[in-house]
Amino acid sequence: MSQAFHLLSILSLIPGGFGSLLAPPGPGPAACANLTSSLGLSKVVTSHLSLRYIETTQDYWNALQSNYQPSCIVYPQSAQDVSIALQAIRASGSRFAIKAGGHNPNNFFSSVDKGVLIDLSSLNSKSYDSSSTLATYGPGSTFGELYTYYAQYNRTLLGPTMGGVGTGSALGGGASYLSPQYGMACDNFRELQVVIPSGEIVTASPTSNPDLFFALRGGGGNAYGVVTQYTVQSCPAGQFYSGNVIYLFAQNDAVALAIKNFMQYNEDPKASIVATYMKLPTPGLGLNLDEAILTFLVYDGIDPGTAFDNFTSIPYVVNTLGLRSYPEVIDMPIPYLAQLTRGDNTFRVGVHLSSDDSYETVLTAWRSWAESNKGSYQLLALNYEPVPQSLTDASNAQNGGNAMQMPAGPWYWVSYILMTLALMTAGAYNSTQDSFREMVESVGNEEGLPLFINDANADQDPLKTFSTYARLQGIKQTYDPDGFFESKTGGWSFD
Ligand SMILES: Cc1cc2nc3c(=O)[nH]c(=O)nc-3n(C[C@H](O)[C@H](O)[C@H](O)COP(=O)(O)OP(=O)(O)OC[C@H]3O[C@@H](n4cnc5c(N)ncnc54)[C@H](O)[C@@H]3O)c2cc1C
Ligand SMILES: *[C@@H]1O[C@H](CO)[C@@H](O)[C@H](O)[C@H]1NC(C)=O
Ligand SMILES: *[C@@H]1O[C@H](CO)[C@@H](O)[C@H](O)[C@H]1NC(C)=O
Ligand SMILES: *[C@@H]1O[C@H](CO)[C@@H](O)[C@H](O)[C@H]1NC(C)=O
Repeated sequence: MSQAFHLLSILSLIPGGFGSLLAPPGPGPAACANLTSSLGLSKVVTSHLSLRYIETTQDYWNALQSNYQPSCIVYPQSAQDVSIALQAIRASGSRFAIKAGGHNPNNFFSSVDKGVLIDLSSLNSKSYDSSSTLATYGPGSTFGELYTYYAQYNRTLLGPTMGGVGTGSALGGGASYLSPQYGMACDNFRELQVVIPSGEIVTASPTSNPDLFFALRGGGGNAYGVVTQYTVQSCPAGQFYSGNVIYLFAQNDAVALAIKNFMQYNEDPKASIVATYMKLPTPGLGLNLDEAILTFLVYDGIDPGTAFDNFTSIPYVVNTLGLRSYPEVIDMPIPYLAQLTRGDNTFRVGVHLSSDDSYETVLTAWRSWAESNKGSYQLLALNYEPVPQSLTDASNAQNGGNAMQMPAGPWYWVSYILMTLALMTAGAYNSTQDSFREMVESVGNEEGLPLFINDANADQDPLKTFSTYARLQGIKQTYDPDGFFESKTGGWSFD
């Protein structure tokens, strides 16, 4: 009797209670136990102390997501492995996340706490068919790796302007330096292999599951299934006259006008810019002394004509314009940009017409927030991302346009990046996020234009700005009828 009592009191000290000795504690570990036996130890890592587990969980652009501890990480090597993983996760009732490049800063989009993380990095095959000029690749490479691989064929892919970003960026649309010529990255999809929420492996193309193919072209990733292979139209990549031009704060407003004029008037689709205003944590002293502007100017060809004259005619401090290969364009070496890196990062997005004075409204609201919130951010960045008419024409000419059904340009997206100070209290972090959101909301958006999901905060509900929202909702219902993905992984919601 007293022995039994003694045993019970020892058992009560076991975390998770007596039951934890008899059954795995919770659905995450149950799914992991199942997957360890079906896929084997080389594809499933459960030890939180293993190097591979630590590398995967540390590899998020928003460092706050590294705090989550998945029950295990699965590294599928085939679509079949992904299918087995989804079925085991479903059977256990566990939460999960799908991770490609880990650059989406929204919590639980590609991260999970106490559930199964599916890391796609082992699905990193790449090939090129020179007769069709189509490129086929798995989701596991970064775009930087893909650009380097396809450069050997003098080709490149439509994809993000920074090399560390993963293949999930094309599912969200994918804005490239080459988009004014060829449309968004997703417009260049020709065929996808997809493991849908049932676990079935299907093809999505103009002729097979065309509705799924539509949704995956800019409607986001982890809602309709897991893409295990992309076949896309590649494009030629020769020499690019390109570089960064950097100005002193005294020229900040002149540069803003040059950006606006480029967004409104440039008609050469081979000329492309991304313009980034940055605020450093140092005092501005009312003179914008804390502000740096970095323009990325890229011309597909060796002679840009007059396309960039409005930028080069303003006195600059640094000008690295010269001829580069495409991987070199992506790697343009920038001192400040080293700071646009892993940290406690969040995104917000806006959309505006190029023809009005919104470019100035945006800049004014952002500057005044930056000034009154000194001490709560490590870095602020504001990017102007032009959407010229050549881009929307190229988008709508392929596959009948993407999930955004982009209205005719010119208009532009503005992306706001906030890197908060590391180790803020929860209260300070939340109030900084709240006031940043209010600043972005105060600027407003142009009605009838889509918010870019790649740059959006989860609370912005960007899909609801798409004219195709009801159609996407129906497609979601068809491919995820019992709400498995909807209820068990993060991402854009359809309620
Ligand atoms: C430094 C930086 C630069 C950027 N530059 C650009 C740019 O130039 N152009 C642009 O368009 N965007 C850009 N972005 C935004 C970027 O495209 C998005 O953050 C995108 O979601 C990142 O994709 P990922 O694969 O790296 O991230 P992840 O977080 O791994 O994936 C993003 C989302 O897609 C889902 N997903 C990924 N792969 C699959 C798959 N195979 N099947 C199903 N779902 C999947 C994930 O579950 C997640 O919800 C940039 C972001 C950063 C941080
Ligand atoms: C294990 O996973 C398989 C799918 O791979 C599933 O069919 C089965 O029901 C799972 N077993 C348990 C006990 O959950
Ligand atoms: C790529 O272009 C370079 C320069 O024009 C040329 O020398 C090389 O042969 C080309 N390579 C291929 C694979 O076409
Ligand atoms: C340069 O700016 C002027 C207005 O000052 C505008 O008329 C012209 O179209 C712009 N050129 C380009 C290529 O942006």
